[in-house]
Amino acid sequence: MKTHKAPAGKATESPVIEVLNKARSAELAAITQYMAQHYGLDDADYGQVAAQLKLIAIDEMRHAELFAERVYELHGLPATEPDLKAVKGQKVQEVPGFDACLEIKAIADYNAFMQLCLQHRDGQSAKLFETIIAEEQAHLTYFENVRDHIQDLGAAYLAQIAGGPAEAGAPAQGFVASQGKPAA
Ligand SMILES: [Fe+2]
Ligand SMILES: [Fe+2]
Repeated sequence: MKTHKAPAGKATESPVIEVLNKARSAELAAITQYMAQHYGLDDADYGQVAAQLKLIAIDEMRHAELFAERVYELHGLPATEPDLKAVKGQKVQEVPGFDACLEIKAIADYNAFMQLCLQHRDGQSAKLFETIIAEEQAHLTYFENVRDHIQDLGAAYLAQIAGGPAEAGAPAQGFVASQGKPAA
């Protein structure tokens, strides 16, 4: 249940709202970046990684929403612009290392933002950052694992992860069934 009201007139600004909005802009950038990679890798037949990217993008959407909710509770206006433009056309070899860097930056920034919230005695915003840092850490671990596997095993690993369904959780199905035609 929502306990806040949208601010009337000029939004309140505060250092806490400012960092919540910086985090929201980073989440909006992550969403578009991971969605671009999801479609790119799906096209390149790396459905398994594409499916995980889709799930991670959905996590980032939830984070963007949680930061916006907190900004509203503090009578501010949530940021609407991503802080980076999505890079397109990346190869599968580039994606996990690139994304690991994004997650490392998010974790470092959110740790600093959490400290700022504590300095301003806003335990609830600090707790939100703490919760989201743990989720970014899970994303980072996944990206680092894929990056390291590609580095260590190269073509063998890429061959192993090629193919497969791009829909997270969807049952694997053949080409004919995916066209909406009954399989023999
Ligand atoms: Fe996030
Ligand atoms: Fe993340």
